[in-house]
Amino acid sequence: MSKNGSISSSVIKRLPRYYRFLGELEKQGVDRISSRELSELMKLTASQIRQDLNCFGGFGQQGYGYHVEDLRKEIGKILGVDRHFKTILIGAGNLGKAIAMHINFETRGCSLIGIFDVNPKLTGEVVSDIPIRHTDEIEKFCEKNSPVVAVLCIPKANTQEIADKLVSLGIKAFWNFSHYDLSIDYDNIVVENVHLGDSLLTLTYGTNIITDTEDED
Ligand code: NAI
Repeated sequence: MSKNGSISSSVIKRLPRYYRFLGELEKQGVDRISSRELSELMKLTASQIRQDLNCFGGFGQQGYGYHVEDLRKEIGKILGVDRHFKTILIGAGNLGKAIAMHINFETRGCSLIGIFDVNPKLTGEVVSDIPIRHTDEIEKFCEKNSPVVAVLCIPKANTQEIADKLVSLGIKAFWNFSHYDLSIDYDNIVVENVHLGDSLLTLTYGTNIITDTEDED
């Protein structure tokens, strides 16, 4: 935790992973877990886990460990998973459809209520029980339904323009997959730029290390 009491972004970024692992343990019927056991499972050190969770007041008890269900609930509250933020998705191409079909928005604090695409050929197609609407309908839809989160799965060239429009329509947070980094232009707007390619680069960096180590042997 920083001196001014705010939680460091690296701790916040680890919370979804704790949430996911604890969810899996809960499914397996695990009632409680020690920081050592959790650390072995998550490949973190036990002290890292204690430090992270202490930022939020601990949750653990000496000699007892963590109560899996309670800890998951607490982390869920911190992450805002029970908030059901109304969410729209823009760009129903390959990526947009895959995200609409395979991400469970409901368990992650969001509720996907609308999908939009500029291509009229896609209008009326149903993805995840939601009909794709033409982008011409966005304004009316936002006035009526007040979504606050937008998932952007559109080409780079269109991103800034559509994001500006969405901000004017009340969108407060972007989960942005387009290859355009939305950023600081927006005060009080939350942006999460996601680049799967960056993740792959992190992997190849890691693979370099493995190869270097092997070479040394
Ligand atoms: P795609 O071509 O299959 O789909 C793009 C869709 O966006 C099309 O249906 C198109 O009609 C629609 N579209 C274009 N302009 C629009 C606008 N102004 N408003 C609403 N809809 C609009 O492409 P794909 O594969 O789905 O990828 C989408 C974008 O995401 C691409 O720009 C791609 O580079 C990027 N991408 C990003 C990844 C990441 O890790 N961040 C991974 C994969 C793709």
